Amino acid sequence: MSHKIALIPGDGIGTTVIEAAIRVAEKAAPGLLVPTSFDWSCDTWLKTGRMMPQDGIEILRGYDAIFLGAVGWPAKVPDSVSLHGLLLPIRKAFVQYANIRPHRLLPGVQGPLRKERFDILCIRENTEGEYSGAGGRVHQGTSSEVAVETAIFTRAGVERILRFGFEQAMARSKRLASVTKSNAQKYTMVFWDEVTDQLAAEFPEVEVTHYHVDAIAARMVMAPESLDVIVASNLFGDILSDLGAAIQGGLGFAASANIDPTRQNPSMFEPVHGSAPDIAHLGIANPIAAIWSLRMMLDHLGEAAAAARIMRAIEAVTARGIGTVPGQDRTDAITAAILDELEGE
Ligand code: NAD
Ligand code: IPM
Ligand code: MN
Repeated sequence: MSHKIALIPGDGIGTTVIEAAIRVAEKAAPGLLVPTSFDWSCDTWLKTGRMMPQDGIEILRGYDAIFLGAVGWPAKVPDSVSLHGLLLPIRKAFVQYANIRPHRLLPGVQGPLRKERFDILCIRENTEGEYSGAGGRVHQGTSSEVAVETAIFTRAGVERILRFGFEQAMARSKRLASVTKSNAQKYTMVFWDEVTDQLAAEFPEVEVTHYHVDAIAARMVMAPESLDVIVASNLFGDILSDLGAAIQGGLGFAASANIDPTRQNPSMFEPVHGSAPDIAHLGIANPIAAIWSLRMMLDHLGEAAAAARIMRAIEAVTARGIGTVPGQDRTDAITAAILDELEGE
């Protein structure tokens, strides 16, 4: 059976890495994905005043999954406009509350810590918290200006992401790190800690540890082997997943899945990285994060065999030292090596 995919390449290297990933999809499983491309981006905003059409969400609802490159080009459109006009509304509208970000060293990649092994699964709350969008500014531009940005944590929202985290821990090492800043944030984060403890009673086999976000950031660098599944709020998960990406060798390796676990809405797959304006025209973006995200999409769509073929090809290529050092190999060369590997299967 084929799957209808909405492609949103977006801005900067988003377009490059999505093109590379689609070539890989066509080689690994010809005809399995039927992509339709949408040119929603900062350029679209400059032309139309919108990042996506008014009925963009309704258009996307008709697809089995969404595959996105990157959104944002701050020199043309303020990030607060572009991200709130495209990426963030999709995550919210489709209740993609679980953002799954695997951070692990691929064969042949050393990473800055020079660890033999690094393997953490970051589960990030993806629809509320610090990204609620609630807030405002008063007395703008005056010396009495005040800006407020309200983090909103609902019991339903906190419970479902923590439950998802516990379930992921059950499927891995049965260790779960719950991340807060409850020493400083006495409402939202104390609440998160309480819900963690309540759910822990339902998962007696899972060993839960509470960490403050500052402490776990240090631990990810100093003793990453002591961590396995991490569950964190929207903002904390965002920051920890760039740290995870750095430890796995760079942003070009970090994949992600924005999942609606109820499967009532399409889920969205995208690399963790952004549009990388600093390298966008150099042809050196690493496509592996996007290709790994494609693999996560195929797994989600029930195409385990194609997903596994793609991951084997990525790993065979990095094991040969191709694409392992940022900037060393060109996007085309990394993609061609993965295509060759698939050809040889
Ligand atoms: P970024 O992730 O685009 O870049 C950070 C650094 O990592 C840059 O030096 C970049 O060259 C490097 N990098 C990123 N991806 C790479 C890859 N595949 N290969 C090699 N190097 C790579 O973050 P930024 O510079 O803060 O953001 C640029 C724009 O992207 C902004 O508009 C930002 O809001 C947006 N953004 C979008 C997303 C998304 O769409 N999910 C994620 C992050 C940032
Ligand atoms: C990410 C990005 C986005 C986020 C930005 C661009 C709004 O950093 O997907 O990690 O913070 O979620
Ligand atoms: Mn981020």
